[in-house]
Amino acid sequence: MTACIVGWSHGKFGKLDGETSESLIVKAASEAIAHAGIEAKDVDVIYVGNMNGGFVRQEFHSSLALQTHPDLRFKPSTRVENACATGSAAIHMGLNTLAAGKARFVLVVGVEKMTELNSTQAGEVLIKASYVAEEANIEAGFAGIFGKITSAYFQRYGDKSDALAKIAVKAHKNGAKNPYAHFQKEFAYEFCRNPSDKNPFVAGPLKRTDCSPVTDGSAAVILTDVQTALGMKQAIAFRAAQHVNDFLPMSKRDIIKFEGPQLAWQRALAEAKLDLLDLSFVESHDCFTSAELIEYEAMGLTAPGEGERAIHEGWVERDGKLPVNVSGGLKAKGHPVGATGVSMHVMSAMQLSGTAPGGLQLPKARIGGVFNMGGAAVANYVSILEPLR
Ligand code: COA
Repeated sequence: MTACIVGWSHGKFGKLDGETSESLIVKAASEAIAHAGIEAKDVDVIYVGNMNGGFVRQEFHSSLALQTHPDLRFKPSTRVENACATGSAAIHMGLNTLAAGKARFVLVVGVEKMTELNSTQAGEVLIKASYVAEEANIEAGFAGIFGKITSAYFQRYGDKSDALAKIAVKAHKNGAKNPYAHFQKEFAYEFCRNPSDKNPFVAGPLKRTDCSPVTDGSAAVILTDVQTALGMKQAIAFRAAQHVNDFLPMSKRDIIKFEGPQLAWQRALAEAKLDLLDLSFVESHDCFTSAELIEYEAMGLTAPGEGERAIHEGWVERDGKLPVNVSGGLKAKGHPVGATGVSMHVMSAMQLSGTAPGGLQLPKARIGGVFNMGGAAVANYVSILEPLR
């Protein structure tokens, strides 16, 4: 155990007209600093998670965090990027900075303002997180990449559309309880299962309800060392933090095995000296419902090809043996790319401190797992979190 989250903030995710990436950064940073009970001058290092740029004209984001307070002027601040795992990448950079003894308090802000573009334009930005030389011509943006992965999975293991629909239903049922979620309403199984005008096919077997939406949002955390954390009002410790990158081209991998996510999970559980079912919940990267399905297998919940059991038998429901995405996940909460990994850590910290809003709080949340993924199982981050005391 090397570091803790001692303050956090989470804004409402959605189509936030009138907000800019600057306003979203400033709001998240100031609320996290206040929540930690520190002052801006106490922050030593800042990381801003923001994806490749291209969603907005403003691409150089690091110093926008300094607008939060005059005392942040001249603090070192860096934008961190690792596709859809950008938020976790920024947090793990903060952990590395603390481990190197280069800071006492690190501010990490994740932000994305996506909805200035329509879905097609956003897809054109997102597809740049594929292996462009081979994959960028796949239609429907990043949904096309996962459409291909889903088709390959169905070819090997059979059509799993029932399971995907149930994963979507679960996400929206949970998200309906989350005041920060983009979508706060339940979706019926029949609606998610059957293609319709309101739920058309987007890419391969994936329908609209299988996709995370295009969303604006921000979240932030304050990190510090364990010694300092002992004196803070709340402290959620990293029992493990692992980062595994795999090859970028899908052609170099058996893509439906999700070997990078699997290794990240194995290493994190070994570091934490835990079995998967010791966790009280997992926040997992459901950019598409099929990603969550394959992640059940990668985290070791089921054997390869049997991920559907986890949803059909209720294991991953709120009251199941391993609740997955109690927050509503990316599917319901939204996926403002650079903010997503930070949001997953904040949702987990809320659960573990007994402060989850609305009806989100789990009765027994002792240890939580976070899996955040950039690209098609390329940049893989697992954090295992528990209260410090
Ligand atoms: N799930 C459920 N409903 C959705 C939705 C989603 N992902 N996206 C949009 N909707 C709803 C809207 O709320 C709207 O509902 P309304 O008619 O009741 O107001 C309706 O669908 C139309 O919205 P619109 O934005 O025009 O839909 P779209 O077809 O342009 O976009 C997707 C839908 C799925 C194509 C888009 O959300 C998308 O591209 N998602 C993937 C983003 C992505 O790749 N992220 C990176 C992952 S690694």
